[in-house]
Amino acid sequence: MQKRANGHTNGLPMQNGTTIVAAAAPRFRAASLFSGIGGFDLGLEKAGFEITFQCEIDKFCRTILKHRWPKITCHENIKELTADAIPVSDVWAGGFPCQDVSLARMGSRAGLKGKRSGLFHEFARLIGEARPRVVLLENVAGLLSSHRGRDFATVIGTLAEFGYSVGWRVLNSKNFGVPQSRQRVYIVGCHRDVHGPGQILFEAECGSGNVAKSKQHGEAALSPFKTSIGEDDGDGPVYQSIAYCLYACSARHTGTDWSRTYVQYPKKGQVRRLTPKECEGVMGFPSGWTIPPLGKLREDDIDSLRYHALGNAVTPPVAEWLAHRIRDYLIASGEQPA
Ligand SMILES: C[S@@+](CC[C@H](N)C(=O)[O-])C[C@H]1O[C@@H](n2cnc3c(N)ncnc32)[C@H](O)[C@@H]1O
Repeated sequence: MQKRANGHTNGLPMQNGTTIVAAAAPRFRAASLFSGIGGFDLGLEKAGFEITFQCEIDKFCRTILKHRWPKITCHENIKELTADAIPVSDVWAGGFPCQDVSLARMGSRAGLKGKRSGLFHEFARLIGEARPRVVLLENVAGLLSSHRGRDFATVIGTLAEFGYSVGWRVLNSKNFGVPQSRQRVYIVGCHRDVHGPGQILFEAECGSGNVAKSKQHGEAALSPFKTSIGEDDGDGPVYQSIAYCLYACSARHTGTDWSRTYVQYPKKGQVRRLTPKECEGVMGFPSGWTIPPLGKLREDDIDSLRYHALGNAVTPPVAEWLAHRIRDYLIASGEQPA
């Protein structure tokens, strides 16, 4: 089990120039696994966490992580990682690969026996060794039904065996200011605290719902299922807010195939692809987040690498919402940062 220190540093500047939480607030620490392009990391950092560690095997993603968090160690392969290499952290967050549990994959799903989604067991091995206070896992909603629920039972049961109380909730990014319907299951485990997951994942208050704004001069508002970008008067490019499932239009991977999501110009009857920059916006990432440093990669490859990495990512606004609630939970439980 990881040793917890009492001392901590308050009010340090953020790695990415993101929102700084009250200077006196305790600075909790978070490690990320299956870090991708840092969707969880960005949300955690915005909520005031200090990122301590990352782990990612994909070369392009590693380039982006290094660019955005130059001082953070990024381990390559989770299979070769041991818990003692991860700095003591309050929270571990990771979205393990979804390809083998995704409903977008036609035919039988290998589930947690698959080579990719089976990497959950590597994540679990490390959690079992270190037992951080809070673990946050993410995956496609198909995880809930893979092997008639037995895979999900394995995830929950494994965490429970390590002493975690576990809760889960399906959240849709479109309810967090992200112009895309993207449902994912978020699993929270709190070590030896039966109330923790409920406090983190569920709120008592009701939201105000989605209200479509009407345009000036009494014109009809754009359909809530469509989004116009670029210009205020609605003449800019329009794209479907409900993103297509990748597998429906491409067999390349099971994230969202941003390279095949088109925008249309209503007045000119033209269509085009979303640009990678627009995909960043549609995923809730800062503009330009996935642009690698000059000279690091071949120009021709960059767009498709950006589409792919964005398609796999966690939307930072959802990560940030969860991170704030985890932080509030840690503070309310009287926990000192690790
Ligand atoms: C669902 S994505 C997670 C994306 C991430 N949450 C984000 O916001 O970008 C899963 C990630 O696990 C990575 N991965 C796959 N096999 C791995 C391994 N053996 N070790 C470390 N990372 C791995 C993939 O490259 C991919 O980026």
